[in-house]
Amino acid sequence: MTPRWSKVAGVGGYLPAEVRSNQDLSALVDTSDSWIFERTGIRNRHIAAADETASSMAEIAARQALLMAGVAFDQVDLIIVATGTPDRVYPSAACLLQQRLGISSGCPAFDVQAACSGTVFALSVADQFIKTGAASTVLVAGSEVCSRIVDWTDRSTCILFGDGAGAVLLTASEQPGILTTRIHSDGAFEDLLYCPNPHAAALAKQAEAAYIHMRGNEVFKMAVNTLGRIVDETLEACGLQQTDVDWLVPHQANIRIIAATAKKLGLSMEQVILTLENQGNTSSASLLLALNQGVRDGRIQPGQIVLMEAFGAGFTWGSALVRF
Ligand code: COA
Repeated sequence: MTPRWSKVAGVGGYLPAEVRSNQDLSALVDTSDSWIFERTGIRNRHIAAADETASSMAEIAARQALLMAGVAFDQVDLIIVATGTPDRVYPSAACLLQQRLGISSGCPAFDVQAACSGTVFALSVADQFIKTGAASTVLVAGSEVCSRIVDWTDRSTCILFGDGAGAVLLTASEQPGILTTRIHSDGAFEDLLYCPNPHAAALAKQAEAAYIHMRGNEVFKMAVNTLGRIVDETLEACGLQQTDVDWLVPHQANIRIIAATAKKLGLSMEQVILTLENQGNTSSASLLLALNQGVRDGRIQPGQIVLMEAFGAGFTWGSALVRF
């Protein structure tokens, strides 16, 4: 049987118009531009308007990806949205995206929730569908309105997050595309980074606010160590060396975490696609927003090898190694 690979055929991205700077945040909480930038590498983040949702932002990114791929909407035979901030508890953001795009073929559409690692989990699922022949044209989006689950009075978390959406269109190919995906979870660390479900909390009469709760320092250390290991695991799975990687496209959480992963790979920071400074941590959207930037500005070229990696609540972590 001819091997089937998942090839990246199109990318897209969307950021809401409103920009909230570190300066703006210093009017809300006791912080400063220099503290935030030095500790995180973030200066600005985009904030969704009241009428914007995970599916509305994903729609804009998805339309761009479909246009770049030159694929008709009715050819899409699977839609996966990675999000921790869906429009509704149900239907999924993926069903709402399907409706917004007018795809009435009955193709499956579902969400994947793996916090900031959501996109690598979604890419892994999409890749399995394509490899087995269960799907041929898969739309994957990562979309988040983190601003609605952030406590804007908590300086240790509100400085980090932003809103946005990214999308990628994968098509079946006889030429190598996604070389491997590696995904992992360990629920033992669930209390280091979490957001309560307001409905469940109300039922349980819990007093805890339905915002992001994080023990940042512990998350930081776990992220650095875990991402170092996933890099080795990913290259080993494909029999490749560090020097084979042309670009690192990381989840954008903290510049110091990203720099540690780049160092581990022996890559210079010029080989890292960064969006962090002006977008902050957009959770599952950040990888695809960075990929969109790297492809559209011409840095990522056909034939090159791109390593994507992410770490998030759960803990969850993973990677996707892709030949463009
Ligand atoms: N402005 C000024 N001071 C702040 C602050 C802010 N926005 N946030 C926290 N501080 C203070 C703390 O209160 C603490 O003060 P204290 O020493 O008087 O108690 C001090 O700064 C150090 O806090 P700490 O949490 O140890 O700082 P840190 O160096 O670990 O940086 C993070 C905090 C959040 C930037 C860092 O831990 C981080 O990025 N962690 C990973 C987060 C992440 O990536 N999460 C998502 C994973 S997908």
